[in-house]
Amino acid sequence: MSCIIEAKNVCMDFEIGDGSTVHALKGIDLRIQPNRLSVLRGRSGSGKTTLINILGALDRPTSGEVIFPEGGRDITKLSDPERDGLRRNEMAFVFQSVALISTMTAFENVEFALRLTKLPYKERVERAKQSLIQVGLEKRMNHRPGEMSGGEQQRVAIARAISHSPKIIFADEPTAELDSPTALAVMKLFRDLVRQNDLTIVMTTHDTAMMEQADIVYTLEDGVISDVKENAQPEEGADA
Ligand SMILES: Nc1ncnc2c1ncn2[C@@H]1O[C@H](COP(=O)(O)OP(=O)(O)O)[C@@H](O)[C@H]1O
Ligand SMILES: [Mg+2]
Repeated sequence: MSCIIEAKNVCMDFEIGDGSTVHALKGIDLRIQPNRLSVLRGRSGSGKTTLINILGALDRPTSGEVIFPEGGRDITKLSDPERDGLRRNEMAFVFQSVALISTMTAFENVEFALRLTKLPYKERVERAKQSLIQVGLEKRMNHRPGEMSGGEQQRVAIARAISHSPKIIFADEPTAELDSPTALAVMKLFRDLVRQNDLTIVMTTHDTAMMEQADIVYTLEDGVISDVKENAQPEEGADA
């Protein structure tokens, strides 16, 4: 089984104010398959955010390794500038709260984020438009966040995430602030994106209704993976 990112015996301890230690992750072994929508599920406090932040090189574990890409380096050992470059070039993030710039249109929000790349202006414009079309917002390009629904704003954040063609997107509770039909639509969008692009998505949720859309669901309980469930794959080329 090929894998795009692998956690090996990852542990994370937090020292808290009273001198005690929280063992948030207790030896996580995880192999994320490429071109799949993987879900990390679990109750509040089970370690989802801690784990996704370590996979996405936002935090370093107390011990253990994170190998990215397959056969590649242990990214926990890279320098901070190397980790910044890795996040900027090969990864993208979508969070629960959308964090769009309220004075900018959908198009401007995506194009602005692309200025971190070295792409020329014409290319940035083209990519911003294509990304917004891919998430179904062709008619909302010139709307500001305040003129869009919560689901549409989350789609802008997703367009921003895919616009620089990352290998992998990490999404921490991206559907938590959406009503159920809107949340389900975002899940279906994620599923379509991994089918149509050379892209892998890892997301967290505590909402069991979202699981059916996933290719594979990892259950976290108290800092350990207690269950892995793979959903049936569509036939090769069936939805091409
Ligand atoms: N910065 C921190 N300092 C101390 N404890 C933390 C910190 N971040 C997370 N924790 C603890 O680690 C555990 C896992 O938290 P988290 O990864 O946020 O869980 P989840 O995202 O599943 O709700 C919890 O017990 C939480 O209180
Ligand atoms: Mg969390």
